[in-house]
Amino acid sequence: MPSGKGAQGGHNSGLLTALTRQISPRIADCELTFQHREPIDLPLARHQHSAYCAALADLGVNVLNLPALPDHPDCVFVEDPAIVLDEVAILTRLGAESRRGESPSIADALRPYRELRFTEAPATLDGGDVMQIGKTLYVGRSRRTNFQGIQQLAQLVTPFGYWVTPVEIRNCLHLKTACTWIGDNTVLGNREWLDLDGFCGIEFLDAPEPHAANVLRVGDNLLMPSTYPKTQALLKSRGHAVRTVDISELIKAEAGVTCLSLIFNAPARNASDPASPPTP
Ligand code: GLY
Repeated sequence: MPSGKGAQGGHNSGLLTALTRQISPRIADCELTFQHREPIDLPLARHQHSAYCAALADLGVNVLNLPALPDHPDCVFVEDPAIVLDEVAILTRLGAESRRGESPSIADALRPYRELRFTEAPATLDGGDVMQIGKTLYVGRSRRTNFQGIQQLAQLVTPFGYWVTPVEIRNCLHLKTACTWIGDNTVLGNREWLDLDGFCGIEFLDAPEPHAANVLRVGDNLLMPSTYPKTQALLKSRGHAVRTVDISELIKAEAGVTCLSLIFNAPARNASDPASPPTP
């Protein structure tokens, strides 16, 4: 059965790096697909984002916080432009055209850590649609990720021993809005939003709150929004170490905790110079 440590199910040890990015001053103009637009308090959103980065650092992750891209309202959602595996990073052609300009700087930030591969038109693929459990990548077919995106991803990762399993989702933005891997061979999810056919052999744990399925596994900890106390209690009752963060302003931009970072196995580097050699 697949197993593993870390946020995406493939990490080996404590040498985790998180790429994050500061919030654009234009976040109020972000893409919204299943939510209505509400005013976003930018200073509060920035404060919450800093607390999120601090929580990752507190969990032992080396956080590299990139500067905002002022003209890209969704730039804080760094999970979507790339899928970082131990062997390679896949730069995605994002499903929302307005977001495609976010990719070059993510590629630059990842280049010191991984060989890069790129998906190309007509493929569309968002990292939020990719859930890794060991060597299996479950990929949501969504408003953002099309058949060609899944097909190109499979072609790029198969040589590294990965298996790609498509998953149909509905009424939510990304696969990882509908479910996330929490370790112990278990996925937390909202079964109303996805087809479970591809998940045989994996325990599916129903989240008591419909929007609470997006949690971020970091080492042996689960990081989740503070707004879902029933789900928090359920996870704790099953023995998980749960840490909460308030991301309520970012949720207004259709965020989850996974969207705000790209976490991968990598030795620490000098935060001011991502191209620097690993520190001993
Ligand atoms: N606002 C997050 C996204 O739609 O990509």
